Amino acid sequence: MNKKRLLTGLQPSGTIHIGNYFGALKPFVDTYSEYESHLMIADLHALTSVRDPQVLRQNIIDVVKDYIAAGVDPKEAIVFKQSDVPEHTELAWMFECLVTVPFLMQAHAYKDKTAKGIEASAGLFNYPMLMAADILLYDTEVVPVGEDQRQHIEYAREAANKFNLAYGETFTAPQEMILKAVGIVPGTDGQKMSKSYKNTIPLFATKDEISKAVMSIVTDSGSDIPENVYAIHKLLRSEAELAPIYEEHKGKYKNIKEALIEDLETFSAPMREKRASITDNDVKEILNEGSIRARERASLKMKEVRMKTGITI
Ligand code: ADP
Ligand code: TRP
Repeated sequence: MNKKRLLTGLQPSGTIHIGNYFGALKPFVDTYSEYESHLMIADLHALTSVRDPQVLRQNIIDVVKDYIAAGVDPKEAIVFKQSDVPEHTELAWMFECLVTVPFLMQAHAYKDKTAKGIEASAGLFNYPMLMAADILLYDTEVVPVGEDQRQHIEYAREAANKFNLAYGETFTAPQEMILKAVGIVPGTDGQKMSKSYKNTIPLFATKDEISKAVMSIVTDSGSDIPENVYAIHKLLRSEAELAPIYEEHKGKYKNIKEALIEDLETFSAPMREKRASITDNDVKEILNEGSIRARERASLKMKEVRMKTGITI
C-alpha cells in the first residue's frame, strides 16, 4: 500500500520545553511512520527573526538532536534543511508572482507580528509563499502543524490552486493535521508554557534545572490539589496512578512537587542520554543524507514546473 506523503517544518528556535514536547514532538513521533515523512528544518524562515549566525547554527543543530532524541528515525523520515534544497526559494518566487499583495496582507501571523512592532521585512511578508513551496514541492498531502499555522496551509492550497489554474494541474492540495493531543500545557505561572513567557520546564535540562522549575510552579493556597502541578503531572501518569499520591500528600505542595520532579526525571533521563550521545557531526551527516534525498524529489518537480511556466526553453 502506498503511504500518504507528510511534511512538516520546524523553526530552529532554541531550547525546547515540555509544552513543545507534548504539543508537537510527541504527536509527530507517534504518527510520522504511518506516512512517507519529511521533516524540514526551516532555516530560511528563521532568517526572518534570527540575526545572530552563531545562534542560528546552534539552533539548527539542537532541533535535529531534539527530534532524534524524541524518537524520529532519520532512516525512516527524510530529515533535511530547507536551504540545502534551493528549489524551495525558486518555487516560492513563482508563487509570489501569482498571488496578490492584499492576499498576503491578510495573513494573521504577519498581522500579529507587525502589530507587535516587529519590522515588516519583505521576507516576513512573503513567508507564507516560501512555506507553500516547502509543502507543494513534495506533493505533500498531510501537514502536521500547530493551530497557529492553520491559515498558512490554506495559503499553500491557494498557491496550488492559482498555479494549477494558470498552468494546468501540477500541485496536490495539502491538508493540515492539527496536533492537539494534549491541549495547552501550562507553564510554571499557570499561563500557556512558552519560551517567550520564561515559564518553561525545559525537556532536556539537568535534574537540578528541572527541580528549580518545578519548585517555582505557582500554586494557589487553599486547594488540596495544586492545579498547575497536577496539569503537568497528568501528562506523565494516568489519573488512577496519581490519585493515591495526591491523596497521601493532600495539601503538602512541596511533597507533591517532589513526586513530579521524580516522574519528570524518570521520563526525561533516557531521552536526555540519547540526546547527549548525538554529536554535531552526526547531525551534519543526517542533514547531508536527507538533503540528497529531498533534492532528488524537489528537482524532479521543479523540472515539470519550469517546463510548464516557460522558463525551460
Ligand atoms: P513557544 O510558545 O515556546 O515559542 P512555539 O510557538 O515555537 O513555542 O511552538 C512550537 C510547537 O510547540 C507548536 O506546534 C506549538 O503548538 C507547540 N506548543 C508550544 N507551547 C505549547 C504548550 N504550552 N502546550 C502545548 N503545545 C505547545
Ligand atoms: N511556519 C512554520 C512554523 O512556524 C514552520 C514551517 C515552515 C512549516 N515551513 C513549513 C510547517 C512547512 C509546515 C510545513 O511553525
